[in-house]
Amino acid sequence: MNTTLDILLNRKSVRAFEKRPIEADVRTKILEATLRAPTAGNMMLYSILDINDQSIKEKLVKTCDDQPFIARAPMVWIFLADFQRWYDYFIHSGVDEVCAEREIEMRKPEEGDLFLACSDTLIAAQNAVVAAESFGIGSCYIGDIMENYETHKEMFDLPPHVFPIAMLVFGYPTQQQKDRKMTSRFDEKFIVFENKYQRLDRDDFEEMFAEREKSLPQGKAMRGITNFGQNFYNRKFASDFSMEMSRSVREMVKAWIRGD
Ligand SMILES: Cc1cc2nc3c(=O)[nH]c(=O)nc-3n(C[C@H](O)[C@H](O)[C@H](O)COP(=O)(O)O)c2cc1C
Repeated sequence: MNTTLDILLNRKSVRAFEKRPIEADVRTKILEATLRAPTAGNMMLYSILDINDQSIKEKLVKTCDDQPFIARAPMVWIFLADFQRWYDYFIHSGVDEVCAEREIEMRKPEEGDLFLACSDTLIAAQNAVVAAESFGIGSCYIGDIMENYETHKEMFDLPPHVFPIAMLVFGYPTQQQKDRKMTSRFDEKFIVFENKYQRLDRDDFEEMFAEREKSLPQGKAMRGITNFGQNFYNRKFASDFSMEMSRSVREMVKAWIRGD
């Protein structure tokens, strides 16, 4: 048996946890695997906040779109895309003085650096997910950590070139979570293309969403909504939390570029 494939093909997000804590040696192994993730230029462009203060977990429930299971997770890690450490190191190394002598402006972290740091950070986060699974520990990403930038900046003392891109909550799954059906995925033909990108047409979408269409609630509550696309747009894409996430990310990007 290929245990790695077994883990990857059977993983599902876990949102209800046993009261059991995560053992210290297991946490250490998960962290080691996380820090071994590939990283651009071997720079490790991320930091991890290990949230073990229960009152902070409770606050995160509120600032991350009211998701109470965050506070019930025995291990909560916030993944920060981080160029601050390298930029501070450049200053510490006297790069600013060399630039001044040469009469050139010292480059600050820009958009490309932000995306590179986000890539590094998410790759490390996924290593944590897989390592945790290997110990029977489930996890769930919380994308809403990108909301409420100003609040999180203050809560965690975030400097400008640090960007909270993901949060992971971990814990041993309850029996109900273990038994829960896995979610489906779109057929690979809609996702994987040969050599060139392919935009999908009407027929493709009908086929691609046929299964999800069946999950659409029926009845009065639908208020004129007739299909999965309309429902998903309203419920997720144009929801208050999506709008807040966009606003918050816009402010974070501005702060990253300005450096304040
Ligand atoms: C970037 C990202 C953000 C997510 N944010 C949340 C979240 O805020 N709350 C939540 O309950 N699940 C969140 N999830 C979990 C997804 O809902 C879940 O992965 C998806 O529904 C597929 O289910 P599965 O992971 O069980 O296969 C997130 C997943 C990703 C990758």
